[in-house]
Amino acid sequence: MTGSAQYALAATGVERRFPLPQDKLFAPKRHLHAVDGVDVRVEAGRTLGIVGESGCGKSTLGRVLIGLDTADGGTIEWDGRPAGAHTGTVQAVFQDPSSALNPRMTIIDAIAEAIPNLPRAQRESRVGELMALVDLDPQLMHRYPHELSGGQQQRVCIARAIASEPSFILLDEAVSSLDASLQMQVIELLRDLQERMGTAYIFISHDLRAVRGVSDWIAVMYLGQIVELAPADEFDDQLRHPYSVALRSAEPSIPGDAFQAERIILQGDPPSAVDLPQGCRFASRCPVAQERCVREAPPLESDEAGRAIRCHFPGSLKLARRTEEVPAP
Ligand SMILES: Nc1ncnc2c1ncn2[C@@H]1O[C@H](COP(=O)(O)OP(=O)(O)OP(=O)(O)O)[C@@H](O)[C@H]1O
Ligand code: SF4
Ligand SMILES: [Mg+2]
Repeated sequence: MTGSAQYALAATGVERRFPLPQDKLFAPKRHLHAVDGVDVRVEAGRTLGIVGESGCGKSTLGRVLIGLDTADGGTIEWDGRPAGAHTGTVQAVFQDPSSALNPRMTIIDAIAEAIPNLPRAQRESRVGELMALVDLDPQLMHRYPHELSGGQQQRVCIARAIASEPSFILLDEAVSSLDASLQMQVIELLRDLQERMGTAYIFISHDLRAVRGVSDWIAVMYLGQIVELAPADEFDDQLRHPYSVALRSAEPSIPGDAFQAERIILQGDPPSAVDLPQGCRFASRCPVAQERCVREAPPLESDEAGRAIRCHFPGSLKLARRTEEVPAP
């Protein structure tokens, strides 16, 4: 879709291939297909979660979407305009706050640096406001990063990300290094900021439970492609792609969960992202694969509501309810 002004972010057919070193001088060039024809849309004020196992291309996709890396194909629009044509509208928060912050910069300098054209006289008051927004005591502004806890450092990163009032923030494993209670606090904070400022988020994690807790829609990635896209509330027990079903079944149950799934253990290995198979990329591990799956790659098919699936036999692997209930607290 073009002219998509209602989307904070709209990308079509995004590709990113990494060239491999050549073994011999005149050998044909080979590539690792990290992201292979991905479409993404995020409306203002909404969150798209992206989940999938390690190496499936989540971070590469995120980096390309915010312009930190270059796409080899596809189109990307921020606020309905070609990405990169204007600045200040996208920001990112990554997993490790200590490496994201310059150890020799005080907190006030780190945050003020992200605010375009900030008059010197307003530095303290504006940075103090931003710190208060992310629940940080403004008195900490003259400290250095090593004088703060991991949770406080991540709040500084979020304050810095929201400082330029971006329409879109990429959160790549942004809460993964925090302990469970801090994760909840930071997620609450992000939600609150989203409500107040209408910011759109892409929330990337290998942890489906964390993604389910924050997202409106969720995209499941497998080997560089989206295999299922659905509203987050359908991720409890209405998934239709065999890989999403297996991923959901592996989510640890906690007491009080409405649906506690029986774990599906996948056998087999994923194919190489260099020599991709001609058929379905999941066929080597799919418990319900049939002969057609090896021959023919399934396309991503979407319905009118935007729900999409890439499988010849959707719904054929079912999530089974756990027979042994996790005891209530
Ligand atoms: N700069 C690079 N050069 C070559 N290959 C790369 C580069 N960056 C990523 N890759 C490869 O691209 C694929 C996707 O990597 P990516 O980091 O996007 O995965 P991910 O889904 O974010 O994984 P994780 O959950 O471990 O963070 C992997 O096979 C990775 O080895
Ligand atoms: S297309 Fe076939 S192999 Fe691929 S996920 Fe669907 S059933 Fe499994
Ligand atoms: Mg990653």
